[in-house]
Amino acid sequence: MEKNSSNRNNKYYYDIVKHMVHILEERDSYTMHHSRRVAKTSLFVAQSFGLSAMQCKRVYLAADAHDIGKIGIPDCILNKRGSLTEEEWVIMKRHPELGARILMKSPSMERIAEIVRCHHERYDGTGYPSGLAELQIPLEARIIAVCDSIDAMQSKRAYRDSLPDEMCRYEIDKNSGLMYDPQVVDFVLENWEKIRQELKTTVS
Ligand SMILES: [Fe+2]
Ligand SMILES: [Fe+2]
Repeated sequence: MEKNSSNRNNKYYYDIVKHMVHILEERDSYTMHHSRRVAKTSLFVAQSFGLSAMQCKRVYLAADAHDIGKIGIPDCILNKRGSLTEEEWVIMKRHPELGARILMKSPSMERIAEIVRCHHERYDGTGYPSGLAELQIPLEARIIAVCDSIDAMQSKRAYRDSLPDEMCRYEIDKNSGLMYDPQVVDFVLENWEKIRQELKTTVS
């Protein structure tokens, strides 16, 4: 009985998180469907990597909520056309921490919050917010980082077109071992067409 009510609470909480992602998408046209595409692609990579069912579920939920902290970023920064100033970047870079804090409000989301906190860490230790490196970064976050970048490069922005496919592949490969886990990159490059299909078929 108690387990049922805790499952129900988890579901309610996750529904609230989903609503927050929708609110964010209304404010920021770039994130429209971005979270869902990253979630679907990350799940595909996680499953093919042989992650456990629990880890796959965490990958999906964390990827769906990965940018939720942007809800706390002012519109003038979130929707700015063109590049951000140094000060604006400092504010923008708070979104992984903010997102983790929102998710931590539910004890059942602690692991997911940690993955969200780490989605901009880099494999070489120069990412944010904590400068974690290599295996210090949860595998789920290392998978999301690659899928997030692919979708960002393949999305049309107000100030630039989407990047051509070859350029996108080149950027991912170039950053193997720097931004991204080389094993995740190898898998993604080997399965490039399948991953592009996952991105294309995710509308909502
Ligand atoms: Fe992000
Ligand atoms: Fe993102």
